Amino acid sequence: MSESANVPAFEHDDSAHAGATGGDRRSDAPEDGRRARNAVNTLVSLHTERVTSVEHWNDRVFSFCTTRDRGLRFRNGQFLMLGLCVDGRPFMRAYSVVSANHEEHLEFLCIEVPNGPLSPRLHRLRPGDEVLVNRKPSGTLVADDLLPGRRLYLFATGTGLAPFLSIVKDPEVYERFERVVLVHCVRRAADLAYRHYLSEELPRDEFLGELVREKLVYYPTVTREPFPHRGRITSLIESGQLSGDLGLPALDAAEDRAMLCGSEAMLADLGALLDRRGFRGSARTGEPGSYVVEKAFAEK
Ligand code: A2P
Repeated sequence: MSESANVPAFEHDDSAHAGATGGDRRSDAPEDGRRARNAVNTLVSLHTERVTSVEHWNDRVFSFCTTRDRGLRFRNGQFLMLGLCVDGRPFMRAYSVVSANHEEHLEFLCIEVPNGPLSPRLHRLRPGDEVLVNRKPSGTLVADDLLPGRRLYLFATGTGLAPFLSIVKDPEVYERFERVVLVHCVRRAADLAYRHYLSEELPRDEFLGELVREKLVYYPTVTREPFPHRGRITSLIESGQLSGDLGLPALDAAEDRAMLCGSEAMLADLGALLDRRGFRGSARTGEPGSYVVEKAFAEK
């Protein structure tokens, strides 16, 4: 079975191994030990962070917050390598960052895959536990690689929601677009992580609330049980249901921009649908297109 996360798998690299085995294991004081390990890890861009809170959305989907090294910089929508020390070596996988780059903490959204090498261990994390974070952000899901447009559609399935949580907290996104539409498609309503946050809390945010209320539309949709919005993103677009519900024109390559994050199957189908409508995906970082894509799974 494959282990899911937000973005593609990356193999360990030897430099990462060197970092985790270089820590100070003799120190009795946890903070001294952490500092010493971080001094060594800095050489290989790995940093030890401490879990500050954990939220379980259902029996498999969960998120957690950690401390954030002040030196860590990333762009909203990017991912980081996140992991744990397993048998004395770092075991790292790519996870999109949920927290925005202006926030003081880091936040990640994960799904547990039974018998997966990392996610069951992450699933057991508790506040106070340590995780490893590689400080080299990466990823193609950045608004800078979108051509100017009027409306921005954020299309997510499952834990593909993660990078969009960072993007909907980015004031620059609201400067660039008149409307931002976040469509989150999941099998069951219980899979709608951050539903209350997106529908209730973010619109009342002290700093962003006004922009969010004016520009952001959150559109959750469920495929395998009754729910106000039902159906796959592709079906909702093809049938005209999505634009009808939103009161917006049908997707138009001249005015609309899109960011896609989800399963490979969804990306293939939705990418093909957008291509048929004249959209052009960004070919590579730094080359803007009318949509950008990131896979939302981690390892085979
Ligand atoms: P469905 O229930 O019809 O398979 P998953 O949990 O498998 O990643 O799926 C998350 C959501 O993505 C589900 O609602 C699923 O719908 C939907 N989905 C799966 N494959 C596609 C696809 N090829 N195109 C659009 N949506 C998809």
